[in-house]
Order: sequence, then structure tokens, then C-alpha cells
Amino acid sequence: MRSRCSIGEIFYLYLFSMYCLFLELLGKFWFKSGLTGKVFMRCEGRTAVVTGGTNGIGYETVKKLLGFGMNVIIASNTSAADSECCLQILRSLFPKSKVEIWYVDLSSMSSVKAFADKYLLSGLPLHILINNAGIMFAPRKITDEGFESHLAINYYSHALLTKLLLPRLKESASPSCKTRVINVSSCLHYISEIDFSDINSISSYCPHHAYMQSKVCLMLFTLALNGYLKNSRIPVLVNCIHPGIVYTDLYKHVWWPKFVGPFLFQKPIKGAEVTVYAALSAALEAEGGKYIEDCREMKPSQYSRDPLLQTRLWNDTWKTLHPWLDEVDDVDLSKE
Ligand SMILES: NC(=O)c1ccc[n+]([C@@H]2O[C@H](COP(=O)([O-])OP(=O)(O)OC[C@H]3O[C@@H](n4cnc5c(N)ncnc54)[C@H](OP(=O)(O)O)[C@@H]3O)[C@@H](O)[C@H]2O)c1
Repeated sequence: MRSRCSIGEIFYLYLFSMYCLFLELLGKFWFKSGLTGKVFMRCEGRTAVVTGGTNGIGYETVKKLLGFGMNVIIASNTSAADSECCLQILRSLFPKSKVEIWYVDLSSMSSVKAFADKYLLSGLPLHILINNAGIMFAPRKITDEGFESHLAINYYSHALLTKLLLPRLKESASPSCKTRVINVSSCLHYISEIDFSDINSISSYCPHHAYMQSKVCLMLFTLALNGYLKNSRIPVLVNCIHPGIVYTDLYKHVWWPKFVGPFLFQKPIKGAEVTVYAALSAALEAEGGKYIEDCREMKPSQYSRDPLLQTRLWNDTWKTLHPWLDEVDDVDLSKE
């Protein structure tokens, strides 16, 4: 198998990442907005699902949601012993809120389907779905179901989970309080495109391309799904965020952040602020389809705003995920 990582592409990626890091460092000392002064929706007793909520940005997000009085179901692949340990800490910190960890392996669509079925059967409402889990720059792996692992974990699993839980998001919404889906993407979506002819990187593999492609997929999916829900008058809002450059286990396949990450990168608690802002800010109640960085709305890449590409990804996604779905919406978003 060929490697598709060109030196130019990787150079461009690191140059762009350095530029983003530089902006963040400036922000750290000057204009970082954070959650201070923001107005939030009423959220006591409401329920959120957070994927990958046992560590990193997801864990800090869960803590913030519990702090706001929400109940949280963490969708995680951690071992039973680690889950128990994590729950003990969270329950001691937030004794009034309910928090549970439910197993899901996001690299397996069957596991995602089992998680969603369990959720729908539980009768629990669902007000906020946070598609946070992810992997980055991992060595090549094709899952048992035939998907490239970044694409499976970062994109397909979250598209499937959202689709399967949509009925519950719909039921839990009211005209005065819409329910929300937050997709955790990355600023790297700005310099990425989808290789529709080889989306699973079968003929050649580059971990950088695989990660960036999965994140631009999430961005296009956010805009497509939000447009579809808006046109169907379904009161569910979908937004996408970039949490900042945050020092977490996400960088375990990259050698250099060990040396600079602890000093230069943001702390997970800062990254979680962006997710929480997207999940709970009253300012975002009117409409979705936004891309948020540093608690501010930014324009997503021109590529991800293309309705033809959104339609293509939308149709391809549901065709691919068909074995785990009961029905498929074949919608041409470019005509709406
Ligand atoms: N950190 C950054 O600078 C940065 C920048 C842009 C975007 N993001 C995005 O932010 C999100 C959170 O990342 P993070 O920085 O907090 O990284 P992290 O600490 O590595 O957290 C990732 C989470 O995803 C979970 N996960 C991975 N594979 C999974 C699977 N197969 N099934 C279920 N859960 C799985 C991990 O669980 P295990 O640990 O148990 O595997 C972990 O809880 C990711 O989507 C990432 O792409 C991060």
C-alpha cells in the first residue's frame, strides 16, 4: 500500500497548526472570551449524552454540565474498573446530579446501534448530544466492519448515533427550548477535503489526511443536518466547534507535544468551555448550523459550505450506514 502523506501537505498542516497556536497564545493573554459574562439556558434536571467523557476535554465538559445541574450519560469504551473510579469521583463532586457511564465502542457501528437502542428503551429524555470522542494521527487500521478507524470513530459513529437518537431529541424539544447536537470538529477542517473516491484510504494511507478528512466530514454533516432539520421544522439545533489546541491524550501518536504541550497548549478545562458554550448558551437558541471557536461564531471553510458536497456526503453516509438504520433520508440539500 502506498503512503499518501506528501511532505508539502504535512508542512502545510504544521504551519497552519502553528498559526492557530499563535492566535491562541495571543488570546490567552489578551482577548480570550471564555464563559465569563455569557447567559445560559435553564438546564437543571435536563439530560446530556457525551461521547468520550471519561478523560480530556470530554471529562471537563461532563464536570461543567453536572455543575449546571444536568444529568449526564457518558458514552465510553473504558474498562468497568476505570468507569467505576471515574463515577466515584464525579458523584462525590456533584452529589445532586445523576451521572452514568454506558459502554460503547465507537469504532463499531453495531456497538453504536446497541447503545442507541438501550438509550431509546430506557425512556430517558435527551436534551444535549455532544459528539466529542475522537482519535488523531493513529496508525492505519481498518475496523471489522471495513471502515478506516478515524472515519469510523470521529465521523460515522457520530452520524449514526445522532440519526438513531434523533427521535428522542425531537420528543425532548419544545418550541421554547430546542434540543442541541454539538459536533466536536477541528480548525484543521479549514485545510481539508474529502477523498470521495477512496474515503476509507484503502489505496494509500496518511494519518494526517485521515484525521483531517474525518473532521471536515463532521463540519459538512453539521451544516447538512442542521439545514435538513430546519427545513423539516424539527426543533433540534446542530452546531460544530473547535475546542482550541488542548494538551490531552489525543496527541499520543505525536512525539513533540510532550515537550511543549504542557506549557503552550490550553488546558482541557478551557477546551470544554467552547463545548459548554455551544451546548448551553442562550445566544445560540435562535438557530444552528454554526461553527464556533473560542466561544465565538466563525465562518466555516468554503469547502464545507458547498451544498453539493454536503448532499454527496449526506447520501453516501446513509448508504454506508444503511445496515444499522431502519430508514434512509435521501435528501438533496442543494435544492432547498
Ligand atoms: N486536543 C486538541 O487540541 C483538539 C483540537 C481540535 C479538536 N479536538 C477534538 O476534541 C475531541 C476530544 O479530544 P481530546 O483532546 O479530549 O482527546 P482525548 O483526551 O484523547 O479524548 C478522546 C476521547 O475519545 C474516546 N475514544 C477514542 N476512541 C474511542 C472509541 N473507539 N470508542 C469510544 N470512545 C473512544 C477516548 O476514550 P479512551 O481514552 O478510553 O480511548 C477519550 O475519552 C476530539 O474529537 C478531538 O478530535 C481536540
